[in-house]
This record gives sequence, C-alpha cells and structure tokens, in this order.
Amino acid sequence: MSTRADWNADLYLRFEDERTRPSIDLIQRVKLDAPSRCIDLGCGPGNSTELVAARFPSAVTQGLDSSPDMIEKARKRLPKLEFVLADLENWSSAQPYDLIFANAVLQWIPDHAELFTRLVRSLAPGGVLAVQMPNNLSEPSHVSMAEVAADGAWAERLADAGKAKAPIGSFSDYRRWLAKAGCNTDLWQTTYVHALANHQAIVDWFMSTGLKPYIDPLPEADRALFLESYRERIAQAYPAEPDGRVLLRFPRLFILATKR
Ligand SMILES: C[S@@+](CC[C@H](N)C(=O)[O-])C[C@H]1O[C@@H](n2cnc3c(N)ncnc32)[C@H](O)[C@@H]1O
Repeated sequence: MSTRADWNADLYLRFEDERTRPSIDLIQRVKLDAPSRCIDLGCGPGNSTELVAARFPSAVTQGLDSSPDMIEKARKRLPKLEFVLADLENWSSAQPYDLIFANAVLQWIPDHAELFTRLVRSLAPGGVLAVQMPNNLSEPSHVSMAEVAADGAWAERLADAGKAKAPIGSFSDYRRWLAKAGCNTDLWQTTYVHALANHQAIVDWFMSTGLKPYIDPLPEADRALFLESYRERIAQAYPAEPDGRVLLRFPRLFILATKR
C-alpha cells in the first residue's frame, strides 16, 4: 500500500462535473454486448463506478482504490456494489474481467509497459481495457509545480516530487505494448477547456491531485508559502478572460484495448 498521504474525496469532488466528463466520454466508446464482470480501477469516490454500473446494469461491477477515504465515500454512494481497498502497483485478478475501466488513475502507477501488459492478463478474451489519463505534464499547471519546487527552501525535500506521476508514453508506445499483449487498440486525445472562476480555482483543482506530491511532504507553514508561489505563477501563465474567468487547458489521453 502506498505510504503517501491519503486522498481527500471531498476536495476531489469540488469539481465533480468537470472530472467526470472524460469518464462519460470513455464509457460511451466501450462497445461490449453483455459483459458479466466489470471493475473500475482507481474508482475514487465512485463517480466513475456509477457510470460503469449504469452503462452495464446486468453486469457485476466492482470498484478498487488504495485510498480509505475514497473507498468509504464510494461505499456510501453505491451501497449495492463491492468496493475493494487495494494497490494497483501489484494488482491482478485470477478471475478475468470483461471490462477493466481506469479513469484518471494509471498516471499514478510507474512502468506503463509492465502495467498495461499486467492489466491485459486480467481481461477475458474479447474483453476491453478502457483507460483515460491526463497528458498534462508539459502544461503550465504542471511545469509551474516543478518550478516552484526547485525554487525554495524546500527544493531538496521535493527533489523527487515530480517523479510521483509516471511519464506518459507516446501513442506508439501504448499501441505497441498492447499489440504485444494481444490487443487491438483505439487511441485518441482530447483537450478539455475548463472556464474556472479565477486563478485560485486552478490551485484548488490540483490540490487534491497533481499538487499532492508537492504539498503532502511539507509542514503546514511551507505548504501555504508553496501554494502562494504556485498561484502567482498560475496567474502569469493563465491570463484572465474579459469576464474574469480563466481557461484551464487539460489534454487527456484515451486508450481502448480489446483483447483478441
Ligand atoms: C484522480 S482520482 C480518479 C477517481 C475516479 N476514477 C474518477 O474518474 O474521477 C485517482 C484515484 O486513484 C487512486 N489511486 C492512486 N494511486 C493508486 C494506486 N496505486 N492503487 C489504487 N488506486 C490508486 C486515488 O486514491 C484516487 O481515488
């Protein structure tokens, strides 16, 4: 189990509509006739699991997450479904699934060549691995985190913070790894554009996700300084629109792999 600080489901759900949209786009592209077993990996508070269960109501759908807070919220939200506390870094299932759904989680797991190959092993023949991952490490939102981390008294302490997220492979990498694992693959990328209320909203958005590896290791006082410095860079990188809103560009990579 990860030793990182737990995720905060309430903070995460402050942008629930925006965060759930890629799941909606992904599940719509899953063309399975009558799957009997589905699992939502990194299910979070159950928002993505709810979509999987609604799309395939006659299947047994489970959720899995390594965060006790997320699992607790998911169980409250969907009391009829089974939720499992487990770490994906070494997860596999002896009983295969028809659908393995993983929205906004695999970017937290290292070694994608090994990870994707391992996940396909838990798929039944004809089964689908459906993945969405943020592909935003080069966006100002993430470049600014790394810049602030390198530019302060905390530099040494945060030297490895940028490594918490796995490097996202190229389109060709995923297609090649999945072909080798016995899958036909459909890949696409979408840039969502979120018109957020102000610059602080961008900080708030990433507080529960991308900023965690940077602020979790810091003492309270340094956290406030880090976030203030990050907000200043965000204000420079994302000019306000005439109505005061700021446009957060958010590229996301989608992968649908069907096991032959
Ligand atoms: C950004 S949230 C995604 C939640 C939900 N799937 C959604 O679509 O909104 C990422 C989730 O991945 C979980 N997670 C991160 N690392 C994990 C790991 N190694 N094993 C299992 N879950 C993990 C976190 O606890 C968190 O709930």
